[in-house]
Amino acid sequence: MGARFSRIAKRFLPKCKFRILMVGLDGSGKTTILYKLKLGDVVTTVPTIGFNFETVEYKGINFTVWDIGGQEKIRNLWRHYFQNAQGLIFVVDSTDRGRIPEARNELHRVLSDKELEHACVLILANKQDSRSALPVAEVANKLGLHGLSKRRWFIQGTSAITGQGLYDGLEWLSKAVHP
Ligand code: GTP
Ligand code: MG
Repeated sequence: MGARFSRIAKRFLPKCKFRILMVGLDGSGKTTILYKLKLGDVVTTVPTIGFNFETVEYKGINFTVWDIGGQEKIRNLWRHYFQNAQGLIFVVDSTDRGRIPEARNELHRVLSDKELEHACVLILANKQDSRSALPVAEVANKLGLHGLSKRRWFIQGTSAITGQGLYDGLEWLSKAVHP
């Protein structure tokens, strides 16, 4: 009876909506992730100048995911999207060892912004399908995640190409924004 009621309620009650910001260095895979989640397909991307946004539904929750271009010269635009974001997805290219220190700096810079003080953070260690990908634990260390105090964070290994890990990430996010 309870389960039946909750199924019916889920169908008719207004859905929870959350604003989620997705940032990370250029080429880390944000747009590929967004459309893999939205369409279930791998799309051919071009570098994002500006943003894309899509609503992704997961377990009765509507996530409006804003994918913001990551090229260096447009990173100062990220902060214009911070307001009212309940969650942040930070995407890292796990194969790009040379730029992990740059990703670390950008992550910590974003997290120091007052507007994101209460946002939970999902880090996606992307491109895990590649043989040259760093293991997730190593990405976590190199990003200095263990030093993030008083912040709800989680790191998930993903592949935007195969879809591996993407829904595990959303699962964590759904619990973090809507406990
Ligand atoms: P900007 O828009 O410039 O910020 O880049 P982005 O983060 O949106 O990267 P994008 O999604 O355009 O992907 C860049 C390249 O990485 C594309 O060639 C993708 O096909 C590739 N790519 C993305 N995710 C993965 C992945 O999980 N594995 C592999 N092997 N390639 C990926
Ligand atoms: Mg893009």
